[in-house]
Amino acid sequence: MTLGLVTAGESHGPALVALLTGLPAGLRLDREAIDANLGRRQQGYGRSPRQQLETDRVEVLAGLRHGLTLGTPLALVVRNLDHKNWQWGMSPWPPEGEPEGKGTKPVTLPRPGHADLAGVLKYGHEDVRNALERASARHTAVHVAAGAVAKALLAELGVVVAGRAIEIGGATGDEGMRKATDAARADRDTLGGIVEVVATGVPPGLGSYAEKADRLDARLAAALMGIQAVKAVELGDGLALARDRGSQAHDEIDPGLARRSNRAGGLEAGVTNGEPVVARAAMKPLPTLMRPLDSVDLATGDPAQALVERSDVQAVEALAIVAEAAVAWELARAAREKFGGDALVDLLAAHRSYLARIGDTWRR
Ligand SMILES: Cc1cc2nc3c(=O)[nH]c(=O)nc-3n(C[C@H](O)[C@H](O)[C@H](O)COP(=O)(O)O)c2cc1C
Repeated sequence: MTLGLVTAGESHGPALVALLTGLPAGLRLDREAIDANLGRRQQGYGRSPRQQLETDRVEVLAGLRHGLTLGTPLALVVRNLDHKNWQWGMSPWPPEGEPEGKGTKPVTLPRPGHADLAGVLKYGHEDVRNALERASARHTAVHVAAGAVAKALLAELGVVVAGRAIEIGGATGDEGMRKATDAARADRDTLGGIVEVVATGVPPGLGSYAEKADRLDARLAAALMGIQAVKAVELGDGLALARDRGSQAHDEIDPGLARRSNRAGGLEAGVTNGEPVVARAAMKPLPTLMRPLDSVDLATGDPAQALVERSDVQAVEALAIVAEAAVAWELARAAREKFGGDALVDLLAAHRSYLARIGDTWRR
């Protein structure tokens, strides 16, 4: 048994939904903890006013009773409060009455770097909105909610996952990152950056080298690359390792199985080795520019400026929370595969017996 996650929802539609399968029964969830993660995703220095419009809160429709999972599919909903301004434009059914509010006019000006052109070509849409609404990163909200559930499961195993922004627009340090954001905002431009996620307390033996699809390094890379605007993923010292000699690159093993370094980022052969799991994701600058790039009007074929829509200057701090959720989900999924258990007590018993077999020396 493994964990499954399916999501649905458009950026300005009524709601975002997630269906989580494979959770063991008896896991205690805390609504405030899930909402706190949703709140963290909405914060960050370079976010647009949209974030003040939305105060994300999780609703649970199924799979939970009195705060405990039932071992059945868990259905989560996060409403889009902004939908009230898009009721005609984003109505699931043919709208009635005169067009009013936002989203009433078709978008025909694709933004370079966004889903707009590829999306309309692939699906045969005439209105770019039909592509951008789902491609938008708004639905990362339910991925963060799912990540919060995964973190609750990992906490039972003593695993803690934390993400943070380490670079924005090439600048480091809180002050440098703020200055870079202010400068880009003044120029009506956008920035990207780098986030780092570290998971501690991860037992050795999650993931497998048996097949490439089982490798946890591959699964983490796919999970992080699957987030909007992420263009590179690094595990441990990743890129730098390619430039080092083997004598410097690898983490020597001391008696008691302690490592002298963690350049591998906690993964060898796609399997956790007991060291902290360290993953970084690089985000490109956001593609919606207040000073739009050259594009083409798809209605006429004439040169035109790309769509301008309310947008963030940078969303690197938000990405850190989304990336943390993605790593937590993959680690929880690998833990569920390794320790099994329809009931949490069975999963925890399997975890305890495994640690007793390998010895507890790895937990430093
Ligand atoms: C948390 C987060 C917030 C984002 N906010 C915006 C935004 O406000 N404006 C924008 O143009 N792109 C934003 N993006 C990036 C786009 O969603 C992304 O570039 C687009 O979907 C195209 O996908 P790709 O960049 O992976 O090719 C955001 C991404 C993330 C992860």
